[in-house]
Amino acid sequence: MSESFQDRVVVVTGAGRGIGKAIAKRFVEAGAKVAVVSRTEANSQLAADELNALGKGEARGYAVDISNTDAVVAVGKQITEDLGAVSILVNNAGVTRDGLALRMSEDDWDTVLDTNLKGAFNAVKAFQRSLLKQPDARIINISSVIGLMGNAGQANYAASKAGLIGFTKALAKEFAGRKVCVNAIAPGFITTDMTGELTDDQKAEIMKGIPLNELGTVDDIANAVGFLAGKGARYITGQVLTVDGGMVM
Ligand SMILES: NC(=O)c1ccc[n+]([C@@H]2O[C@H](COP(=O)([O-])OP(=O)(O)OC[C@H]3O[C@@H](n4cnc5c(N)ncnc54)[C@H](O)[C@@H]3O)[C@@H](O)[C@H]2O)c1
Repeated sequence: MSESFQDRVVVVTGAGRGIGKAIAKRFVEAGAKVAVVSRTEANSQLAADELNALGKGEARGYAVDISNTDAVVAVGKQITEDLGAVSILVNNAGVTRDGLALRMSEDDWDTVLDTNLKGAFNAVKAFQRSLLKQPDARIINISSVIGLMGNAGQANYAASKAGLIGFTKALAKEFAGRKVCVNAIAPGFITTDMTGELTDDQKAEIMKGIPLNELGTVDDIANAVGFLAGKGARYITGQVLTVDGGMVM
C-alpha cells in the first residue's frame, strides 16, 4: 500500500516528460498538490492536464528555465502563492550535450552544468524558506550513475551529476538542524526519451554491465523517490541511492 501525501505541496522540476513526469504522477496519485515545472509552457501544461485527469491530488504547470536564477525565484513565489508552503522538492531537470572533452565547446559545458547543477541550487534557494519550516521536509536530487562512474563522452554530464552528490551531502549537513532530509538518487539506464536515442548495439553493450539484465523504468525511479519522501525515510539523509539494476556496487 503506498503512503498518502494528501495536501503536501511538492515541486518536481523537469516534470514535463520522462522520469520527472512519473515522479509527479506518483505524488498526485497519493493526493499531493504538485507543481509540474518544465522548460516550456506547452509541456508543463500538457503534463499537468494529464495528471489532473487522474482525479486524485492536484497538478499545476509552470514554465521556467531552471538555470535562470531570477526566473526561478519568480516562479517559486508564484508556486508558494498558488499551492502553499512547499515541503518536498525534487530536482530532476537535466540535459546532456555529449562529446569528448577534448572537443567539447564551452557552451556545451556551461549548458549542462547550469541546468543540472546550478538549476538544483536555484530551486533550493527559491524554496528553502518553505522547506526549512515544514515538518518532514525533503529534498531529493536526481543524479546519475555517471556521476559515480564517469563515462567517456560525458565529462560535462558526469561533472554535473557528481557535483549534485557533493551538493546533496553539504545541504544534508546544513539542513539537518531543521530535520530536512536531503538525498540523491542515481538512476542507471532508464527507458526514456534521453535513452531512446541509443542504438540496439549500444543497448546490447550497456546490458553487459547490468546484472539484472534489463533497463529500468521511470516507475522504478518514482518508487525510490516516494520512499525517500515518505515518513519511513525520516532517519536517512546525505545518501545516494543507486537504482540501476546492480550496475554500481
Ligand atoms: N534516462 C536515464 O536513463 C537517466 C539516467 C540517469 C539519470 N537521469 C536523470 O534523470 C533526469 C530526468 O531524465 P529523463 O530521462 O526523464 O530526461 P528527459 O529529457 O526525458 O526529461 C528532462 C526534463 O527536464 C526538463 N528540462 C531540461 N532542461 C531544463 C531547463 N533548463 N529548465 C527546466 N526544465 C528543463 C525537460 O523539459 C524535460 O521535461 C535527468 O536529470 C537525467 O539526467 C536519467
